[in-house]
Amino acid sequence: MKVSYYGHSCFGVEINGRHLLFDPFISENPLASDIDVDRIPADYILVSHGHYDHIADVKRIAKRTGATVISNFEITTWLEKEGVEKVHPMNIGGQWAFDFGKVKYVNAVHSSALPDGSNGGNPGGFVIDTPQCAFYHAGDTALSMDMQLIGRQCDLCLAFLPIGDNFTMGIDDAVQASSFLKCNHVIPMHYDTFELIRVDHDEAVRKFRNAEVELKFMEIGETREM
Ligand code: NI
Ligand code: MN
Repeated sequence: MKVSYYGHSCFGVEINGRHLLFDPFISENPLASDIDVDRIPADYILVSHGHYDHIADVKRIAKRTGATVISNFEITTWLEKEGVEKVHPMNIGGQWAFDFGKVKYVNAVHSSALPDGSNGGNPGGFVIDTPQCAFYHAGDTALSMDMQLIGRQCDLCLAFLPIGDNFTMGIDDAVQASSFLKCNHVIPMHYDTFELIRVDHDEAVRKFRNAEVELKFMEIGETREM
């Protein structure tokens, strides 16, 4: 499995010969100005919720690649109206077996209005279950007890967790989340992009290490074999 970081909460994951892309927000992210949006591969685009910093480049990438967009029913319906051709609607608690593995759309504690003010349904996160690795992309969320359910049901090898605070959980709550999830490999997201979500990287690594969790910051543009 290969993981590429495109800034904010946007990751590419190559698994079982498929390219998954989570929450593309690149062309409007000044920190990701070196990333060429028009060269990112995608067979599936997974959208956690409707906020612009998770959905900004969905249409552009879906149009070029013909990728299938996976999100909640309200968001996929809105994207279809915007001209996205291939979508797979889901809702909280539901799972579907795709050709790369199973996807479960799970609860997130947040909000989800779309950029034009349309109803973006309920925000979520994704648990991806494949024979090689089960992993979790939390989207934007507070710490919640529901994360214990994921830890009970899945043996996660990796979790993408927001750590930026203010709009989502911060470092301390993300450490607690990794314990609820029973996951000791975490890649942080949703930090540093805006003034309100700047974090101290050393402090974050130290706090996770104290809980025996490895926090791996990725550089924007970096690809890593996991
Ligand atoms: Ni959000
Ligand atoms: Mn966000």
